[in-house]
Amino acid sequence: MSISSVKRVGVLTSGGDAPGLNAAIRGLCLTGIKKYGMKFVGILDGYKGFEQGRCIDLNIENIDSILAVGGTLLGSAREKPFKNKEKIKETGLSAIESIKKHYKDWKLDAVVVLGGNGSNTTAGFLSNAGLNVIGLPKTIDNDIVHTDYTFGFSTAVECATECIERIKTTAFSHSRVMVVEVMGHKVGWIALHSGIASGADVILLPEIPYQKEIVAKKILENAKVGKKYSIVVVSEGAQDTNESKLDKKAFKKVRSSMGCSIGERVAKEIENETGLETRVTVLGHLQRGGSPNPYDRFMATHFGATACDYIYKKEFGKILVWQNNSIKAIPLELVSGQTKKIPFDCDMIQTAKNIGISFGG
Ligand code: F6P
Repeated sequence: MSISSVKRVGVLTSGGDAPGLNAAIRGLCLTGIKKYGMKFVGILDGYKGFEQGRCIDLNIENIDSILAVGGTLLGSAREKPFKNKEKIKETGLSAIESIKKHYKDWKLDAVVVLGGNGSNTTAGFLSNAGLNVIGLPKTIDNDIVHTDYTFGFSTAVECATECIERIKTTAFSHSRVMVVEVMGHKVGWIALHSGIASGADVILLPEIPYQKEIVAKKILENAKVGKKYSIVVVSEGAQDTNESKLDKKAFKKVRSSMGCSIGERVAKEIENETGLETRVTVLGHLQRGGSPNPYDRFMATHFGATACDYIYKKEFGKILVWQNNSIKAIPLELVSGQTKKIPFDCDMIQTAKNIGISFGG
């Protein structure tokens, strides 16, 4: 054991949960305890629990059996302490002051944040505010810049793919068009991967604005060549060409007054344009829940364990990323406020087009 001068480490999970969070906590704690003699404090419900002063001790007993368990044993919340202007009831202090107070009260030498874009942006701000922070990239959306992978993504794609395949068999039986809406507000990584993996006919992504007439044309072509059914995978952030010209505020207004999900809207558009019977399934949180698959268990464990080495070296203010098949640490500012979108002209899009998938645009 190399005894670390970093003795007590806090860990929190923030933002939408993702399969692999528990595996990452376990990897982090096992390495820290066994290799470096560190102690771990689990901060409950993300930054919210940090503000309110809620935590538990993490030890071999309570982390050893969580490798394959979905969700996060610590709980999570979408709290943005730097935007929270309220005084925290428990401390009478601002959100940031409360976090600093608890960091000190709990005698933390460092804190590890398991989060997506927003949570790692906050981690960067906390680092600038003087806390020793390390970020890990988790999100089913796979949309953090500078990392080829975020843990949780593979399990979500696997879940979506399996669901689409199930939907395909009933689509065949009833000669229907089936629209499947998958997660991804700003990016379409889940839609692209699960759509290709399940043999979809159309994939609609936030990155490629669609025209309903082009979607309908593809479906009618299918029918013309004797294909009994069509599968349309729609990312929840998909937008048509008119919507793509709107600014953020106007777009939000259109969406909030729509009265249905984008998948439901696309299904109606298809029925109107083609006259073909169309059904819709919104997969929603099925994609986020449940046990991580082996790849996510591996990646999350690897990220968690590696975070300890950086803590030991006192390399703070960084997020670990996956590049060229290995973990690297880059400054948190590099990912702050950014989103990794699918490049319009990337080879994955080209592959999909080569095999006849339409993006509706
Ligand atoms: O965490 C990412 C994500 O799953 C997105 O894909 C989705 O748009 C969003 O979270 C849903 O969030 P919530 O569970 O807060 O409704």
